Amino acid sequence: MENEVVVSVRDLRKTYGAKVAVDGISLEVRRGEVFGVLGPNGAGKTTTVECAAGLRRPDGGTVRVLGLDPVADPAVRYRVGVQLQHAVLPNRMKVREAVRIFASAYPRHADPDALLAEWGLAEQHGTAFAALSGGQRQRLFIALALLGEPEVVVLDELTTGLDPAARRDTWSLVRALLAKGVSVLLVTHAMDEAEQLCDRLVVVAAGRGAAAGTPAMLRGAHTSLESAYLALTGEVA
Ligand SMILES: Nc1ncnc2c1ncn2[C@@H]1O[C@H](COP(=O)(O)OP(=O)(O)OP(=O)(O)O)[C@@H](O)[C@H]1O
Ligand SMILES: [Mg+2]
Repeated sequence: MENEVVVSVRDLRKTYGAKVAVDGISLEVRRGEVFGVLGPNGAGKTTTVECAAGLRRPDGGTVRVLGLDPVADPAVRYRVGVQLQHAVLPNRMKVREAVRIFASAYPRHADPDALLAEWGLAEQHGTAFAALSGGQRQRLFIALALLGEPEVVVLDELTTGLDPAARRDTWSLVRALLAKGVSVLLVTHAMDEAEQLCDRLVVVAAGRGAAAGTPAMLRGAHTSLESAYLALTGEVA
């Protein structure tokens, strides 16, 4: 269904002890789009997408994924792939073991060898996690997020640490996912990535949405998305 909302976050609030990390963020991801979340370090982006993925329980507001509450209805999590910003695997776990273990968690999954080849890890099957480069780890976590053939993918800092060619390849692989009707919730600090990949985005600052819309709408009268972003987040006038 066109314009079908696959992720709905309304007035989300999340605290860690006395710290208010998210203070009323709302967003909607539609089927087949990339929805971007931008904002300074500590603004609440990871907390927001982890709540959206059902990995954290909100203190207030509502989260619906494919029409379901991902905390109350964990089965929906099989339909959501998540690449976490701070993910790690045991140092000695080999790439092939990681994909096998992750694949066993899903009722239905992609072909692990094809997925690893697609993400440039064909030579790394026998490599231990500790021996992977930063960019190889990043690509492994993206591949693991896609293993269950999810309908919705949450990517927290998708291309951080990737070389320029790998970034371009990653963008085209994400576009290929969109063509299949997959929807993406993407956290990024990269303005070029936001402009190239995101259909719509929200800029968050101090746990609140500062502005939302298409990259062109947010750029508005500014010379670049970056200067609009800096003005919105109050980092530079
Ligand atoms: N597990 C936690 N316990 C306590 N405080 C936390 C925890 N996770 C995050 N915070 C705090 O909540 C706020 C939001 O953190 P979050 O990780 O959501 O930010 P972010 O926008 O993803 O930042 P970054 O760009 O640095 O990844 C920060 O002030 C952070 O210190
Ligand atoms: Mg983060």
